[in-house]
Amino acid sequence: MQRVELVKDELSFSRCIQGYWRLHEWQMTSSELQAFVEQGLEQGITTTDHADVYGGFTEEGLFGSMLKQAPQLRERIEVVTKCGILFPCERQPQVSEKHYNSSAGYIIEAAERSLRELSTEYIDVLLLHRPDPLMDADDVARAFEALRTSGKVRHFGVSNFTASQFALLQSRLDYPLVTNQLEISLIHTDYLFDGTLDYLQQQRVRPMAWSCLGGGGVFHDFQYKALREVAKQIASHYQAELDQILLAFVLALPGQAMPILGSGDKKRIARQAAATDIALERQHWFALLEAARGIPVP
Ligand SMILES: NC(=O)c1ccc[n+]([C@@H]2O[C@H](COP(=O)([O-])OP(=O)(O)OC[C@H]3O[C@@H](n4cnc5c(N)ncnc54)[C@H](OP(=O)(O)O)[C@@H]3O)[C@@H](O)[C@H]2O)c1
Repeated sequence: MQRVELVKDELSFSRCIQGYWRLHEWQMTSSELQAFVEQGLEQGITTTDHADVYGGFTEEGLFGSMLKQAPQLRERIEVVTKCGILFPCERQPQVSEKHYNSSAGYIIEAAERSLRELSTEYIDVLLLHRPDPLMDADDVARAFEALRTSGKVRHFGVSNFTASQFALLQSRLDYPLVTNQLEISLIHTDYLFDGTLDYLQQQRVRPMAWSCLGGGGVFHDFQYKALREVAKQIASHYQAELDQILLAFVLALPGQAMPILGSGDKKRIARQAAATDIALERQHWFALLEAARGIPVP
């Protein structure tokens, strides 16, 4: 598995990342989760993506229980987690409305909670989960500095940020934001055309790509029938499977986008990680884009 350098000599990720948004649905015991992580490691998938809100603030705890049982795995993986979203749920009884919180006090509180839940002494990368219209960039910078100097968080990034939101926060930091985690797939191509990916490429910031398979909808929803048909034809050309071609589309983007795989199925993960071996020809890439958007290439 290829590695992507995010900070020279300091931080690199596996090209494919394992996402844990759906971990609470997988019904895995800690031992099964450990075996799942170990299979990923055998394939070179070292980077893990989490968020405090996943599973109604329970996902990090499930992963942390596994790490408590297998602490030797901690040094072999990178832990990425996110904060900033709050919504009413059992674990947040004081919250009555969904909202975002990017205040310094809350970011520090959330990161410290993630450390406890994940049973780890440090977070490799902490991301602000969503852009917050009430974000005060100086305040965020204060929180990041406190977490960095205490060794609790090594690097910072953002998720779902526009180019200008990214530039604003970066302008207040003396070190680089290491990534912007974005929804990038054949069924969500907005960032290819709105300047967000251009800006990241210009800044040499490597994006993480979420829901590259449309959260699974691309395999069965009627609206993606035309895309499926074209993608299956192209897949046969490469002796590949549909999911691999959908991932190869994201992998072909300039700027080394790193797909976050969302499956909890070991066989699918093994196959999808192998999509990194497919080099899509340009004419196939554009045929997929055309089928996905329903607009001829101009
Ligand atoms: N930053 C953000 O705002 C944000 C938002 C959403 C997600 N994320 C991150 O991105 C990760 C990936 O997102 P995602 O889970 O939506 O990824 P995804 O790969 O688009 O979707 C995963 C879903 O598709 C199903 N699936 C995968 N391969 C399949 C196949 N060949 N045939 C049929 N179904 C298939 C999976 O089911 P099985 O498990 O049964 O295979 C799972 O339910 C998340 O885990 C999370 O870490 C970030």
